[in-house]
Amino acid sequence: MITGHARPRCTQTAAWAALHEHFEAIGRAFDLRDAFRRDPGRFEAFSQEAPHVFADLSKNLIDTQAEALLLELARECGLEYHRDAMFAGKAINNTEQRAVKHWLLRAPAGASSDPEAGQVHATLDAMLAYAEQVRGDDAITDVVNIGIGGSDLGPQMAVAALDALVLPGKRFHFVSNIDGHELAAVLRKVRPDSTLFLVASKTFTTIETMTNARSARAWFEAAGGRDVARHFAALTTNVAAAREFGIATTFGFWDWVGGRYSMWSSIGLPIAIAIGAAGFRELLAGAHEMDRHFSSAPLERNLPARLGLLDVWNRNFQGFSSRSIAPYHSALRRLPAYLQQLEMESNGKRVDAEGSPLPHASAPVLWGEPGTNGQHAYFQMLHQGTDVVPVEFIAVATPAHALGGHHQLLLANALAQAQALMQGRADAGGHRDFPGNRPSTFILLERLDPASLGALLALHEHRVFVSGSLWGINSFDQWGVELGKVLALDIARRLASGDASELDASTAGLLRRLGRRA
Ligand code: F6P
Repeated sequence: MITGHARPRCTQTAAWAALHEHFEAIGRAFDLRDAFRRDPGRFEAFSQEAPHVFADLSKNLIDTQAEALLLELARECGLEYHRDAMFAGKAINNTEQRAVKHWLLRAPAGASSDPEAGQVHATLDAMLAYAEQVRGDDAITDVVNIGIGGSDLGPQMAVAALDALVLPGKRFHFVSNIDGHELAAVLRKVRPDSTLFLVASKTFTTIETMTNARSARAWFEAAGGRDVARHFAALTTNVAAAREFGIATTFGFWDWVGGRYSMWSSIGLPIAIAIGAAGFRELLAGAHEMDRHFSSAPLERNLPARLGLLDVWNRNFQGFSSRSIAPYHSALRRLPAYLQQLEMESNGKRVDAEGSPLPHASAPVLWGEPGTNGQHAYFQMLHQGTDVVPVEFIAVATPAHALGGHHQLLLANALAQAQALMQGRADAGGHRDFPGNRPSTFILLERLDPASLGALLALHEHRVFVSGSLWGINSFDQWGVELGKVLALDIARRLASGDASELDASTAGLLRRLGRRA
């Protein structure tokens, strides 16, 4: 029985030692081609359905015994206890003393006994009513979301992913960078009387967002815009700061929603304007189905658990330090960036939840581009480079267009790349040889719609929970972003004054060069 926050160190369990032995005995020399020859049931054993998602894990360097030991590891480490604590609203974000309840944002009305469920639905209803009002307002042609990190990546990714369902006649722009080139480029395209600015910031203090919001308002007023109340809305947990900024229309959320888990909250307003209230509810419903699967399916048939355990196997036993995300759907072009924040900000930590150094590796580097583009850029390295990088293919069976022939070729390429990585080719000699035996996972959606997108994203959230839980990490804080923010404020002052005193020689030298232009 595991109690309190303290979770057993995964490295101190019997399963961890057994996994090491198993890796030395079988895992290190594992050959996928032999594994498929020996076991005609391998595809069935390592693939499964989950809500809206089918996943084939069989082309990974893993056998049934390794998976059985990983499941034992999960049980010894109290994964189910930790998962249930999250769904019970316990303060599992221990460094910030916060509950972790993004799943509550997706629970249908009446489905949860959580004391905040009523507030969640009242806010959702108000936000969706506003979204419908904006959709019906033909005078608004442009929606500009100003936000960064979790207040940008989710909405930006989802609006692009669901492009086929986006209301014609409205354009969506996303401004995140403090680099004025980004905002200036958008402001050149829009007019004050037909633009709605959404200032999205959980804290309403983030320097990039506040700088962009101030400049947008100054532009609006200078360009003759009069009705700030009609043309600006804020999405934030800090409603008081938004009001002080002069924004009257605000939609709130709660401190138990992490930034990278916030697109299901008011932060999702651009998505709701783009695809409508019904579509947004389908997105939530798809994610909720995955929440139910994660919270109730036995670990052996629990897709987020199996993927998270595979991630632990790949990172800590196979020693793979990165994973490439290859969405074979151009509308999922921002998915790699979204998953980067989700996984690397959640699990890119070198200490456990109690602050003690981890004796093992944690989050890998995630990176990627849509297929087939990546094939003509970096797939060379994936096939023949010196590092082995597990690839995650994400494909969609039914396209959202009617252009004959394209989709078959797209899917053929996805399957062929996964096959080539595994099979390799040894008969051509030298430069033409492919070593093969390179692992991949294949995720398949029937179609890319709000429900399947919701399920796909919740699958990833929970998978990150699983690996973070086994590593003993607090996946819900992000202290690693703080130092740079503090130093940037100091350097901004020094750039203005030219004061390079007591700086390291490199920073001082660069500051002097830049200061000459100031
Ligand atoms: O700097 C990191 C971070 O705190 C992310 O976790 C967050 O998503 C982003 O900044 C934006 O924060 P906010 O929504 O408070 O502006």
